[in-house]
Amino acid sequence: MSQGIPEETIDEIRQHTDLVALVGEYLKLERRGKNMVGLCPFHNEKTPSFTVSPEKQLYHCFGCGASGNVFSLIMQMEKLTFPEAAKFLARRAGVKIPEQQAARPERDQLKENIYKLNLMAARYYAYHLSKTASGKKALDYLLKRGITEKTIELFMLGYAPAEWTGFFNFAKKKGATPDLMVKAGLVSPGREKGYYDRFRSRIIFPIFNINGKVTGFGGRAFDDEKNSGPKYLNSPETAVFSKGNMLYGLNFARGEIRKSKKAVVMEGYTDVISAYQAGIKNVVASLGTALTTEQSKLLRNQSDIVITAYDSDSAGEAATWRGLVVLQSTGCLVHVAELPQGSDPDSLIREKGADLFKSLLENAVPLIEYRLQRLKERYDLNTDNGRVKYIEELMPFLVAAVNQVEQDYYLKKAAEELGVEEAALRNELKKQIRRGSKYRGERKKDSSDEVETIAISPAEKILISLMLQSKEIAEQGRNDIKPDYIKGSPVKIIFDEIWNLYDSGGVVTAEKLLNRFEDDNLVRLVSMVVTDPALQDLQPRVAKRMAEDSIEYLRRLWSARQQRELKKKIKELEDRGLNDEIENLLREHQDLLTNKDGSPYRSGKGGDFNG
Ligand code: CTP
Ligand code: MN
Repeated sequence: MSQGIPEETIDEIRQHTDLVALVGEYLKLERRGKNMVGLCPFHNEKTPSFTVSPEKQLYHCFGCGASGNVFSLIMQMEKLTFPEAAKFLARRAGVKIPEQQAARPERDQLKENIYKLNLMAARYYAYHLSKTASGKKALDYLLKRGITEKTIELFMLGYAPAEWTGFFNFAKKKGATPDLMVKAGLVSPGREKGYYDRFRSRIIFPIFNINGKVTGFGGRAFDDEKNSGPKYLNSPETAVFSKGNMLYGLNFARGEIRKSKKAVVMEGYTDVISAYQAGIKNVVASLGTALTTEQSKLLRNQSDIVITAYDSDSAGEAATWRGLVVLQSTGCLVHVAELPQGSDPDSLIREKGADLFKSLLENAVPLIEYRLQRLKERYDLNTDNGRVKYIEELMPFLVAAVNQVEQDYYLKKAAEELGVEEAALRNELKKQIRRGSKYRGERKKDSSDEVETIAISPAEKILISLMLQSKEIAEQGRNDIKPDYIKGSPVKIIFDEIWNLYDSGGVVTAEKLLNRFEDDNLVRLVSMVVTDPALQDLQPRVAKRMAEDSIEYLRRLWSARQQRELKKKIKELEDRGLNDEIENLLREHQDLLTNKDGSPYRSGKGGDFNG
């Protein structure tokens, strides 16, 4: 784990770091007996359950279960890896980490070198923007767009001069090798000989990673005479840069996102810069492409709600929708802000002011709601064709719903819109879910493909996966899922085996669970569920919420079944004229629902997803 940092150094860092003081930098602590308590930084709470033991130098939150020492605190708070957290604390404590160059894998060395060269390049471009005659035109362009010098400095904006080897010569003089410059994507080998700069006559936007290191660049053409290439030219993929893994501005936005638990995703560099300058600081850009899983995970780790504010002309595009579904299935609550025709956040803020933009953000609607609105506009629900399309295009969004409650809510809404029975739509959804998992799980056989894929609900899938990952959730499941809820369902066998595994002690893994089944269908089902990326690496708080929603869903299904059976029985008794019996039956049923049916969780009011 320590990756090149010697054990002694880690001990030294630990000894020189007081957990109470460290926690104190993030939240207010009060003494309670031997311990200190405060409001947990990892989940929302009103009464303090985050407890720090000065004696043991450990913390534990009784609300969300977060726990650990100085290193894990920094890893979680600052979203760092262990070595990064160790370095962070070493710097703070004045402990020196011995250089272990030799022991470093080559790839790490290359990354370090690229970061160094990138920083050098960013400074070179920044210098040319602010301090040279040739950069004057670029600077004027930015200032005219309302970007202030202070903002230019913060975002380290720059200008790549209209020279073929300006940067190349500069970097060479500073001792960088052409090989490294190529690997960093800053220069390209010439067709016959020599090298030439990738970025020429462009305004430069350095792209930082979450820790503020320069990983790559975006270069915008601004001077039509001198530039014929694309409007934006980005760094190519390098050892440290991959467009789909980055969110522009996250290093600046991180603090504010964490504080507000909300992140705003936009498309472009200039959108982020404008918003930030206008005081809306929880903003990042996806760099013009549809959101990827990697980007979604970055957001999910920092915030509860993600508001998208895309250019109005791209908001309806298929790729954008796909990105939003990805975001949602990673576990973010996605809200969509609708921008007026022809505008993007930057132009809106400049032309109409930040307040208007803020109000658009505040009025953002939940993704599925937004989808329903758009589809309703697009299709004529009085025609068969329109209805088919409507259902078809809505389904992926329902499949990706954050939780059962949300799924149910919108399923109902859509059914109302269409004037059909909810059950009919639910069947369609089930089919979709089954189909989706077949695509993922099986590639080979196609004719024998018709083997029964066991149909289970998303709630059951979620519970299988989460109970395997967390003992706490497994225990909660065992307590709260009454046998009746899953009577006759194949998941009963799976749930039971998971609980047995925990009982038998040792580490519980998906592999161990699979070893307990012989039935191919069960094995397939479990493998599919445990490898579903949407159910991996969830934050404990998110996982807990999902598990609770799922249990609640099972309970409600069961309750609905009870009601149906009751109705049937009443009908029978009525037909036979046995009215006294009906009264007994009703009383019995009342008991059942009031005593045993006390829902432990939020009831289906819609929860916190549309708030
Ligand atoms: N983009 C890109 N390559 C392109 C076009 C766009 O990488 N050829 C990315 C950039 O990150 C850009 C974002 O997509 O910031 C959005 O593109 P666009 O809306 O065209 O640019 P803006 O950011 O609005 O820039 P400006 O306001 O200066 O036109
Ligand atoms: Mn723009």
